Amino acid sequence: MAVTSRIMLMTCIIASLIYISTTQTCSNYTFSTNQVFNSCIDLPVLHAHLHWNYIPSTTSIHIAYRATQTSTGWIAWAINPTGTGMVGSQAIVAFQNSSGIMTVYTTPITSYTPSMQPGTLSFSVSNFSAIYANNEMTIFAVFGPLKNGTTINHIWQAGSSVSNGIPQTHPTSGPNVQSMDSLDLLSK
Ligand SMILES: *[C@@H]1O[C@H](CO)[C@@H](O)[C@H](O)[C@H]1NC(C)=O
Ligand SMILES: *[C@@H]1O[C@H](CO)[C@@H](O)[C@H](O)[C@H]1NC(C)=O
Ligand SMILES: *[C@@H]1O[C@H](CO)[C@@H](O)[C@H](O)[C@H]1NC(C)=O
Ligand SMILES: *[C@@H]1O[C@H](CO)[C@@H](O)[C@H](O)[C@H]1NC(C)=O
Repeated sequence: MAVTSRIMLMTCIIASLIYISTTQTCSNYTFSTNQVFNSCIDLPVLHAHLHWNYIPSTTSIHIAYRATQTSTGWIAWAINPTGTGMVGSQAIVAFQNSSGIMTVYTTPITSYTPSMQPGTLSFSVSNFSAIYANNEMTIFAVFGPLKNGTTINHIWQAGSSVSNGIPQTHPTSGPNVQSMDSLDLLSK
């Protein structure tokens, strides 16, 4: 093999290794809370990861949604049970309040200018909490019973500011409008 092709091969291998180590990190991630999730996915945008356990007996999912964020920003994860976009999604949002305490609550997204105030979702959400550590916010919650099978449309989101306890608008282009997908809960 010519020297140049060896160099190119090595470059490819190193690039792949760097790619794997920087992006494929959900499966070996250890929670400081010692919780274990059997399934996870490294989401393609917003430096986000979803970990979950699907509980067949209750058709519920126990999730941990984590994403890189600054201390003044917010993160959210949602299921849209009636469509694929933002409107109609049933969200859980987390941020540090002005006392520096992680705050987490559910909020239904009823329009493109949602109130982002606490509200009830169309399905039950229980046992929720949030933490902020190592420049990452994590939301823990149990969603369900989910009545429509094991494939969900999920959406994740982030914004850089919170004002008077209300998460402010996120960017409306780029990664922030690519952050939705269909997810088969039994696929991982
Ligand atoms: C997961 O594995 C990757 C690749 O081996 C490594 O770079 C990363 O540090 C690991 N992450 C944790 C949290 O152990
Ligand atoms: C199931 O789907 C129907 C129709 O799309 C929707 O109205 C309902 O909210 C969904 N239920 C759950 C629990 O996701
Ligand atoms: C922040 O959250 C904590 C815990 O819920 C609460 O005690 C505190 O009053 C909140 N601070 C503000 C400014 O809302
Ligand atoms: C409730 O949440 C806590 C902390 O996230 C977790 O350790 C526990 O397993 C959860 N319980 C249920 C029933 O999901």
